[in-house]
Amino acid sequence: MTRHLLSAADLSLDDATLILDTADELARVSDRPVKKLPTLRGRTVVNLFFEDSTRTRISFEAAAKRLSADVINFSAKGSSVSKGESLKDTALTLEAMGADAVVIRHPASGAPHTLAHSGWIGGSIVNAGDGTHEHPTQALLDAFTMRRHLSTIAGRKVVIVGDVLHSRVARSNVLLLATLGADVTLVAPPTLLPVGVDQWPCTHSYDLDASLVGADVVMMLRVQRERMNAAFFPSVREYSRRYGLDADRMSRLPEHAIVMHPGPMNRGLEITAAVADSDRAVIIEQVTNGVSVRMAVLYLLLGGSDSALGGDL
Ligand code: NCD
Repeated sequence: MTRHLLSAADLSLDDATLILDTADELARVSDRPVKKLPTLRGRTVVNLFFEDSTRTRISFEAAAKRLSADVINFSAKGSSVSKGESLKDTALTLEAMGADAVVIRHPASGAPHTLAHSGWIGGSIVNAGDGTHEHPTQALLDAFTMRRHLSTIAGRKVVIVGDVLHSRVARSNVLLLATLGADVTLVAPPTLLPVGVDQWPCTHSYDLDASLVGADVVMMLRVQRERMNAAFFPSVREYSRRYGLDADRMSRLPEHAIVMHPGPMNRGLEITAAVADSDRAVIIEQVTNGVSVRMAVLYLLLGGSDSALGGDL
């Protein structure tokens, strides 16, 4: 394993498989009445969040605590960042407090790379979402969820639908799923596909109904209105009609197909409430699995080895 987790592209097939296998073992701990291991006792994990988050921040916090690490939650709102403190000075402060790992979410693409390569911090850096760039632990928890339902990922057809342009989840998923051997199709209106998508290791289409034929996984993306500074589609109604997942479209999927969404959802826009609450949707499981996967990432980055894990379990 590398020292940092910045991009899904940094993970080899062996690295990704090790994380998913370790997460499988750690998931068993989460099923116990006492959900705690002593593995990271005495280590400090800082959650450094410059952007709003519910799931990801809570998930990293639960993961670190289940491994007995000390957790410091830092959110930019209400901190000296709102007084203009730079990323460098914030980082130096965390270093002075002895952070062994810094989990960072930042609105600027590349902020975790800056932190990892600056020399300001000696510990491991984990990218928890940087701008529209990457969100590698989300891709890992998505792969973990797919593996649990479909047993294999190689050769599976994964259709990722919606606001790809603004989605760090889509990019990280495409990169990781390519490593794991899945066959990925991105579906979006032309205005919501990034320039250069032809170079990504996947195919793309503007036609949702045609793309859903034979899909094993349909992953719906949130329309990220807070990142939109222009009109990317004519109307909400038009978007839902062409790119939303409703009960009718879902009924045409193969019986074993699962529906995913990273959350937060815009119910009634990219996904109807009936689909989000249906048996096909594994959206809540994704949240549960996120904790096991983030436990595995923290454990492996902070010096765990397979044998040590065997001993603790
Ligand atoms: C995603 C994010 O923040 O990138 N959410 C998440 O981490 N669960 C996706 C989104 O905001 O739409």
